[in-house]
Amino acid sequence: MSEKYAAISWNRQKIIYDLILWSGVVGYLLLFIGLGAIFQPNVTIETLLIRGFGTCAILLLHIVLIIGPLCRLSPKFLPLLYNRRHLGVTTFFVGAIHGVFSIIQFHALGNVNPIVSILISNTRFSSIADFPFQILGLIALIILFLMAVTSHDFWLNNLTAPIWKLLHTLVYVAYALLIGHIVLGVLQAETSPILVISLGFGLISVIGLHLFAAFKESKTDEEFISTDEFVEACAVAEIPEKRACVRTISGERVAIFKYDGKISAVSNVCQHQNGPLGEGKIGDDGCITCPWHGFQYNPETGASPPPFTEKVPTFNVKIEDGKVFVRQIPNKAGTQVEPAKFE
Ligand code: HEM
Ligand code: FES
Repeated sequence: MSEKYAAISWNRQKIIYDLILWSGVVGYLLLFIGLGAIFQPNVTIETLLIRGFGTCAILLLHIVLIIGPLCRLSPKFLPLLYNRRHLGVTTFFVGAIHGVFSIIQFHALGNVNPIVSILISNTRFSSIADFPFQILGLIALIILFLMAVTSHDFWLNNLTAPIWKLLHTLVYVAYALLIGHIVLGVLQAETSPILVISLGFGLISVIGLHLFAAFKESKTDEEFISTDEFVEACAVAEIPEKRACVRTISGERVAIFKYDGKISAVSNVCQHQNGPLGEGKIGDDGCITCPWHGFQYNPETGASPPPFTEKVPTFNVKIEDGKVFVRQIPNKAGTQVEPAKFE
């Protein structure tokens, strides 16, 4: 949450996450290359390495993409999300090793610069069977690189949240390019159905989980619309102590918190990476803690405690007959609002 660069601090959870991640990557590669050597003895070790790293990278990318919707469906998956960037950076490294091996194998022996060779050696863009699929892999790798180098919070603060989020949304463009890279590349000559089936299953999982999570949220997101300035959102008794209930009011998701005989409402969207503040709780320090990576906000001002500077919009609230009413128009992020008090 600081604009100054601070080195990544390793804690036990991050170390365990990375250990599992890297053992998974090494285990996958050993298994892939071992089985390849046994069942396809004619395939060279260079090809097995290219294929092992390529399939490992695309598998990691699928995991990166399904973590978001899985967490929206169940908080049980949240531990996967906390260090998702480590997964993203690993995806880039594994994909880059695949790319470098491919360049060495297919483009390094000529007298043209290998990167230029990828771009000019095949220009049959109108052919499906001979499409220059490697260019798609190269563009995807550049996107993964940009995401990996800007994954630290230092860049989130310096690029500003909207630009950073836009940049990181490009992961879907990279995914689409990589599907093209594989379908127009290796699948054109592949005789074994394993890669086609795995890719189809992966594609269905990514699209299906995103649609299912959006559908489930839209059902719980019954919108509260009224011509009055304030809309009835929920009953005070419905909100657990130090927790929130989340309602969509005038198109915006609002987290309505109950604590110490008071009610305050803030935007549900964390300034860090859009985490759901309404699924966090108010701690002993009186701050809402985002369940994703622990950014904190004062429920009455929407501002992070000093020295941090993040702010979310607040909403005016009132209580009538045990019901909470929320003003439809949000206040500017960080605006202090008097909480509504109840007996
Ligand atoms: C400079 C960038 C890249 C180049 C030059 C490149 C090149 C290649 C080549 C030549 C193949 C065919 C290998 C074969 O005949 O078996 C291939 C396949 C593949 N690539 Fe890439 N690639 C790049 C980036 C990526 C990235 C970033 C990913 C994933 C994140 C990726 C995933 C794959 C996969 C899954 C395959 C199919 C593996 C298989 O053969 O079974 N590629 N790539
Ligand atoms: S989304 Fe990361 S702390 Fe809220």
